[in-house]
Amino acid sequence: MAPVLAWDGVTAVVPATKKAPAKTILSSATGVVRAGAGGGLCAVLGPSGSGKTTLLTILAGHEPPASGRLTLDGAPYDARTAARVGFVPQVDQLFSTLTVLETLEFAQEMRNGATQAKQLCHDVLAQVGLERVADQRVGDPASLRRRGLSGGERKRLSVALELVHRPPALVLDEPTSGLDSAAALSLCSCLKKLAADQVVVASLHQPSAAAFRQFDVLTLLGAGGTTLYFGPRDGALAHFEKAGLAVPPYTNPAEHYLDFAAHQKLASLDPLAKDVAADARALCAAAAKAPAARGGGEAGAPAAARRSLLTQFSLLLGRARAHNARNPAFLHAMMGRTLTLALVVASLYCNVDASQKGAQDRLGAMYFILTCQVMASSGSIRTFIAERDIVGHEVRGGLYDLRAYYVARSLAESLVQLGFALLFGVLCYGAIGLAPTAAQLAVFLATLSLVTLGAESWVVMIGAAMPDDRSAGVVSPVGLSLFLASGGFFVNTNSVPALFRLLNHANLFVYGFGALAVNEFSGLALHCDASELVGPPPLPPPQRAIARLVGVRWPDPRCPVERGEQVLATMALDGLTPAQNLAALGAIIVAYRLLGFLALRRRFRPRGW
Ligand SMILES: Nc1ncnc2c1ncn2[C@@H]1O[C@H](COP(=O)(O)OP(=O)(O)OP(=O)(O)O)[C@@H](O)[C@H]1O
Ligand SMILES: [Mg+2]
Repeated sequence: MAPVLAWDGVTAVVPATKKAPAKTILSSATGVVRAGAGGGLCAVLGPSGSGKTTLLTILAGHEPPASGRLTLDGAPYDARTAARVGFVPQVDQLFSTLTVLETLEFAQEMRNGATQAKQLCHDVLAQVGLERVADQRVGDPASLRRRGLSGGERKRLSVALELVHRPPALVLDEPTSGLDSAAALSLCSCLKKLAADQVVVASLHQPSAAAFRQFDVLTLLGAGGTTLYFGPRDGALAHFEKAGLAVPPYTNPAEHYLDFAAHQKLASLDPLAKDVAADARALCAAAAKAPAARGGGEAGAPAAARRSLLTQFSLLLGRARAHNARNPAFLHAMMGRTLTLALVVASLYCNVDASQKGAQDRLGAMYFILTCQVMASSGSIRTFIAERDIVGHEVRGGLYDLRAYYVARSLAESLVQLGFALLFGVLCYGAIGLAPTAAQLAVFLATLSLVTLGAESWVVMIGAAMPDDRSAGVVSPVGLSLFLASGGFFVNTNSVPALFRLLNHANLFVYGFGALAVNEFSGLALHCDASELVGPPPLPPPQRAIARLVGVRWPDPRCPVERGEQVLATMALDGLTPAQNLAALGAIIVAYRLLGFLALRRRFRPRGW
């Protein structure tokens, strides 16, 4: 049975805000498209702002309508049905560092396995005319230096990604925008071929007459998201002729329709629009009686037919590693940052001794190292959010499971961050001359590694929860500054207010500093200069002899602080052993990661189905 996509009375409303009332942006859109030669390719036409993207986003299952009913093969939309609809959004979502072929191979291997992957990908590239740039990087259109594919090529690659998996219904938002008329025509003929066994709905901005002729069905939207026409493309000519809007000779019908839809020559259309709605509704009712959703196998296999989690994980890990390795500017910046900060630490704290001042320097050095590491690792929040939107598109499209992505991304990112953290740690440790045993060095490096992972987890948690990079860029440093201030160096953790004490349970600085300080100061003997000695002044020799005779022990002058343990006790850092501090850091990482995962899952879930 050929797939059937039907939508009936679909309305979209932007909810009211304090400043503006609710606004209907799509009003009772109704239509039905059945795959098959001569019927499966539907054009959504309308002037800018008429609700094309809104309708397509709803048809793709990414947003639920305010009211109305959608069915695929007679099955009402739910999260599973929605995942069976492929979607090419108006804004491309592609990884900039992969080549065209790699991007396609990744999708192909994820969907169908590696068998004949290369050949299939080359076939698809030929279909969309991208063979010439198969080995070119996708690139970033916003960056002049890293620009890769042209706008039209990016669009065709996005379409190609959907061609490798052939979902039962494919929705494309302006697939021909940015293409010259020949390329647009070739893409439309390619869509026409696909429409033989899958439903294809595409919005078009300014189709040429030839491209428009490829389409079987037309939905014409007018201002305010009203449906001016739904039905066979050919039927539109006679339909509008009735309203005195016949297509003038030598005019592209699509242009003519867009022209009157945009210019509100619509009074005469009202009764016709009612006819259209009645016809479309009758078709929808017929479609609803179609047999319920089919299983997979042929073109149109459900999106849920994915590879095992382990395979997804290894493919995603490969992509993440390639992405990191192909970003040399990022790796050079990380190396530059590590060496510069190590140099700063070395200049400030070189060879600290065990004097009274040395104790203060040691504490300062450790807190400074922690701060550098946390701040540096948390700087990747904008990158994470940029990647989040691409991943959201892929996860919603059923390409892979969020769990596989989450673990693979965490691993790939952590390996890079840990490499630089260990280098930074070893350089600082040697330059400062911290505790000499190998066991203490190991605890120092373990602490730095866990703090780095914690900061990276913080990035993921905030990045997943915040709506965009600007708000994340504000919230993340504010949260970290709060943790930094109450972390035990600038203020004694016993004297912070109750709220801060509660927040400190999730504070990387508290446990990182605790572990480093206890590791460094336990068993450390401190000395001081003669000028720093405290206690009663020494007795002159005659009085000293008398005191000894009568058995009075005159206290010797001593250093204000003689043992590292005293420093720990004064700073309230002696509550936990290094192992307990490390365990607490581990727990914080797990909590941050878990919250980050839940926030991402919530964000990527098709809303409201
Ligand atoms: N979240 C929103 N809040 C407020 N207005 C919105 C929102 N989403 C869409 N709109 C409005 O709804 C209307 C339809 O938007 P839509 O993106 O669907 O138009 P379109 O037909 O795809 O336009 P274009 O051809 O320019 O892409 C526009 O006027 C837009 O400003
Ligand atoms: Mg749009």
